[in-house]
Amino acid sequence: MKQICVIGVGYVGLVSAACFADLGNRVIALDIIEEKIQGLKNGVMPIYEPGLKELVERNVAAGRLSFTTSYEEGLEGTEFVFVAVGTPSGVDGEADLRYVSIVAETVAKTMQTPLVIVNKSTVPVGTGDWIAEIVKRHQPKPIPFSVVSCPEFLREGTAINDFMQPHRTVLGSLDPEAADKVAQLHLPLRAPIVITDLRTAEMIKYASNAFLATKISFINEIANICEALGADVKEVAIGMGYDKRIGPLFLDAGLGYGGSCFPKDVKALAYMAAEKGRHPQLLYAVMDINNDRRSMAINRVTEMLGDLKGKTIGLLGLSFKPNTDDMRDAPSVDIANALISDGAKVRAYDPVAIEVARPLLPDVEMYTDVYAMAQGCDALMVMTEWNEFKQLDLEQIRSLMRQPVLFDGRNIYDSEKFEQMGFRYRGLGRGYNGSKVEQLASERGAA
Ligand SMILES: NC(=O)c1ccc[n+]([C@@H]2O[C@H](COP(=O)([O-])OP(=O)(O)OC[C@H]3O[C@@H](n4cnc5c(N)ncnc54)[C@H](O)[C@@H]3O)[C@@H](O)[C@H]2O)c1
Repeated sequence: MKQICVIGVGYVGLVSAACFADLGNRVIALDIIEEKIQGLKNGVMPIYEPGLKELVERNVAAGRLSFTTSYEEGLEGTEFVFVAVGTPSGVDGEADLRYVSIVAETVAKTMQTPLVIVNKSTVPVGTGDWIAEIVKRHQPKPIPFSVVSCPEFLREGTAINDFMQPHRTVLGSLDPEAADKVAQLHLPLRAPIVITDLRTAEMIKYASNAFLATKISFINEIANICEALGADVKEVAIGMGYDKRIGPLFLDAGLGYGGSCFPKDVKALAYMAAEKGRHPQLLYAVMDINNDRRSMAINRVTEMLGDLKGKTIGLLGLSFKPNTDDMRDAPSVDIANALISDGAKVRAYDPVAIEVARPLLPDVEMYTDVYAMAQGCDALMVMTEWNEFKQLDLEQIRSLMRQPVLFDGRNIYDSEKFEQMGFRYRGLGRGYNGSKVEQLASERGAA
């Protein structure tokens, strides 16, 4: 049993703390937000993540997991400090490291015994060295410590499973002994462990996220081309995905990536490259394609409704992806605001994200019942592919709507079924109807 302090009780920190405790370690999770820690002490989760409440409760009851706002309490007798604070985008797209810097300084001033400082936050290449400098500079007396980079790859919505069954663990350090100690903590996960220097580990995280974002923008580009040429991107993705060199994941055409990681990480990687005089043109294209998805959604629904002025539009889902309440950089926010500025009245339903979304979208009317939301709508737009949307009573929805118009921003429905039911349906890159087939045939004949 090891003693671990996890600093930052957000999506990554809280999940990591609960999972390390579940693996038999004694974990203290620390945050500066008093109400989060008080809530956790009373069994209230600060975020929605499937299975998290049960996992936290089990480990608190077993005496392996506790919470604090005090660095003195958190660091007492601990061998490992895991840093999991936010690294949002700064003004020019660079990662904002202010929280990491404060943590490094506070740890330096508080530590009384040797420490392995393990950084889980996604940070620019070179930050591990910078953390070491900050700690050295602020220690009142020299106490040995090492810095290890251990980037996190979990996904919100499946975070516990991702933590417990990672595809790999990446560890970067200039101190092999410290890297080995952190590797020992991860051995029960039975995943390959890749040990590198600090900077390479930091780069692996950015390169992985940028690659996944590229896959999403790639399939969105293909969806656009499919629309122009009369092919179905869903089937194209299936046909591509069987190729082991490509794989089936991250090939869903939609409204583009959002959330707290891909947008800021692609931007930060491009910023790092440009700062060093490189021209990261692929990353720029990935970001451009992603931004275009939001305006494309507005154009589509405008084409379907004519003018948006005075129209009532219902959003199915708000969170940036299903099974989370995370609204950071969710496409729904930009889309709702654009609809409103075009004169539409906007309503929304989401199974878990309503309360998080409310302050971000003060002019959107929030509903806790999807059928009540659909009543009197001129169009519905799918923003998030929540499973429950796949099982809606479509007859009822159609009968409640003023106009049966559906824009499927996540391609979750079968277009033919909708059309048979009398909906005007638009998905993304979804093949052609009869007239286009004839048009294509005649174009070919004419050629
Ligand atoms: N969310 C994800 O899916 C995910 C996945 C992989 C990696 N990451 C990376 O992990 C890091 C954390 O992301 P997150 O989504 O968990 O962030 P988050 O915003 O949900 O949580 C960060 C927490 O850190 C706390 N904090 C800030 N300053 C502090 C301080 N000085 N001392 C103690 N606590 C402090 C905040 O109060 C907050 O609770 C980021 O770098 C992110 O890029 C996130």
